Amino acid sequence: MRRLTRAALALGAVGVLSIGMAACGGGGDDDSSDADATTEAATTEAAPTTEEATTEAAPTTEAAPPPMAAPGLPQYLAGFMGWLKVNSEPIPPDPGAPHGETKNVYVNQTRADITAGGSQTFPYPDGTVVVKEGSRGGDRAAIVAAMRKVAGVDPEHGDWEYIEWSRSSADAPYTLLAEGQVCWTCHFSAEATDWVFTTLDS
Ligand code: HEC
Repeated sequence: MRRLTRAALALGAVGVLSIGMAACGGGGDDDSSDADATTEAATTEAAPTTEEATTEAAPTTEAAPPPMAAPGLPQYLAGFMGWLKVNSEPIPPDPGAPHGETKNVYVNQTRADITAGGSQTFPYPDGTVVVKEGSRGGDRAAIVAAMRKVAGVDPEHGDWEYIEWSRSSADAPYTLLAEGQVCWTCHFSAEATDWVFTTLDS
């Protein structure tokens, strides 16, 4: 939960707020209208037991809005900072590697799904998204680079879509930085680990 909160903050409170509103189909008055509905129902139905009233009200409080990607990023990256972190320690800046200063890598898989007998298995399953956030000038996720496994999209290069975005400040939307060939010409050296450099717990 803590990670999710941090991610929400880092990815921009605006985005998170607006999904909250969008998912509820309106503005911040949803709570009160739900409450009204409950009260109304209770009154119209003449005499529902207290138990019924409580049960009816429960689902509205449980329905959390889905996480939303930061402005400029695709929805498949929503909440990525809450995913399984692949590296155990932050990856320090390296003049030979791109993607920002200090970096962290996440994957939308569970540890159990990508390991067998304690070792990581390759290739990653179809639908996998591996994403790296790189910091710059105090913005922890100034650079976001993603590899998305889409069966059949590019078998020559691991069937990954490679795309990278950056933003000028924590409040700014992301814009496309680079994609495709420029990425896999370098990621080629990690072909043995399904074109992904960072392996679990590295
Ligand atoms: C010059 C080599 C190079 C190029 C070009 C490059 N990368 Fe990387 N990339 C790396 C290295 C090295 C890492 C390992 C982590 C680190 O040291 O930053 C990495 C890590 C990543 C990761 C995290 C998973 C992993 O492989 O560890 C993603 C996602 C990623 N890169 C996407 C991209 C995308 C998208 C592009 C093109 C826009 C790109 N990369 C271009 C070298 C490169």
